[in-house]
Amino acid sequence: MGIFKCLSACLLVSGVLLLNLPPGLCGCYKRIFSFGDSIIDTGNFVHMSGNGSSRYKELPYGMTFFKNATGRICDGRVLVDFYAQAFQLPMIPPNLPEQDSGRFPNGANFAVAGATAMPPAYYRRWNHSVPMPHSLGVQIGWFKQMLRRLAPGDDDGANKIRQQLLNESLIVLGEIGGNDYNYWFWYGDAAKPREQANQFIPDIVARIGSSVQELINLGATSILIPGNFPIGCVPSYLSMFPSSDPAGLDGRRCLRWFNDFSARHNQALRGEVRRLQARNPGAKLIYADYYGAAMEFVRDPGRFGIGNPLVACCGGGGPYHTGAACDRAAKVWGDPSGFASWDGLHMTEKAYEVIAQGVLNGPFADPPLLSC
Ligand SMILES: *[C@@H]1O[C@H](CO)[C@@H](O)[C@H](O)[C@H]1NC(C)=O
Ligand SMILES: *[C@@H]1O[C@H](CO)[C@@H](O)[C@H](O)[C@H]1NC(C)=O
Ligand SMILES: *[C@@H]1O[C@H](CO)[C@@H](O)[C@H](O)[C@H]1NC(C)=O
Ligand SMILES: *[C@@H]1O[C@H](CO)[C@@H](O)[C@H](O)[C@H]1NC(C)=O
Repeated sequence: MGIFKCLSACLLVSGVLLLNLPPGLCGCYKRIFSFGDSIIDTGNFVHMSGNGSSRYKELPYGMTFFKNATGRICDGRVLVDFYAQAFQLPMIPPNLPEQDSGRFPNGANFAVAGATAMPPAYYRRWNHSVPMPHSLGVQIGWFKQMLRRLAPGDDDGANKIRQQLLNESLIVLGEIGGNDYNYWFWYGDAAKPREQANQFIPDIVARIGSSVQELINLGATSILIPGNFPIGCVPSYLSMFPSSDPAGLDGRRCLRWFNDFSARHNQALRGEVRRLQARNPGAKLIYADYYGAAMEFVRDPGRFGIGNPLVACCGGGGPYHTGAACDRAAKVWGDPSGFASWDGLHMTEKAYEVIAQGVLNGPFADPPLLSC
């Protein structure tokens, strides 16, 4: 598919429009494989929770698009759903429920809510523990198991089949790493000053980079690598770290220190993507600027029909609606499409749609993801 044909056909991406286009028109990729955390988990976490209760298994999670809880930590679709729709693919199933039998003709999603980039052992030297073992390395391990199951064998022929399968696929690697920082900030104390999180950045970026290289070595040729969000504009951060000093808030009333922190992570990640691209000229590595895309609706929410971008749609009282967790007993403050934050930590389908458009059509990915 040439870049111009694809672009002209797909510039007007929207779920409704695309459903009416003939299949394959935007068929740059046959599959999407994705890795990450709750931002794009589509059911792995709730699958792992088995019969245990989880608020993510119940409305109002899922109220908007699916009209039922699906395991997405959102009122509706998440970023990877918008990418799948833009490429005329069905929504990508979570890996774990079909781990032993799935053929995954359109790809699979390995993201798990709570996941970190670094393995838990990494944090022991700081006397710090992270609650989820399904770090990026574990997810890539699941992915390699799946490849071996779909195309078994160790000979050149089997390797070729696996490489071709990956060559026809888009990899979405992240966002990942956000939780590594979250856990440090949230469970911090005097012995864990927030500034210390700076020292994790090079290791987290290197881990994302080595994962990209590992996927390229397996045959991947198109990889989207998203950065972190402006966490200083996230309601749970705003309520957890109230700023008594007015200088702690920026012109949008977001927490300056945390936004600067995300920007430092993103700058390092962007540099890593550039280095990897230079080393792997045959691959297309696309950095996705989720920070910049999200700042669009923080700066000018009205343009997207969003009210106050700093308050949660589902939760409780307080200036950021974070007085209670979002669950079936929580207050839903209005139509989720008028909010950017869904539950105080995760975004609404509306916010994800705005970010996805900025990545698919530009300017928040270079080149735009749809220019394949
Ligand atoms: C979960 O529930 C199903 C159906 O009620 C039951 O068959 C299964 O044994 C339960 N699994 C566990 C691990 O309790
Ligand atoms: C909603 O999802 C639950 C499980 O998550 C399922 O048991 C139920 O049948 C679904 N309801 C509808 C209307 O699809
Ligand atoms: C590590 O943390 C535990 C509990 O959080 C604490 O009891 C212990 O003193 C800490 N150890 C060091 C070396 O800081
Ligand atoms: C990947 O697929 C493209 C398009 O079909 C082809 O031109 C290219 O040679 C393939 N690359 C590899 C490494 O197989």
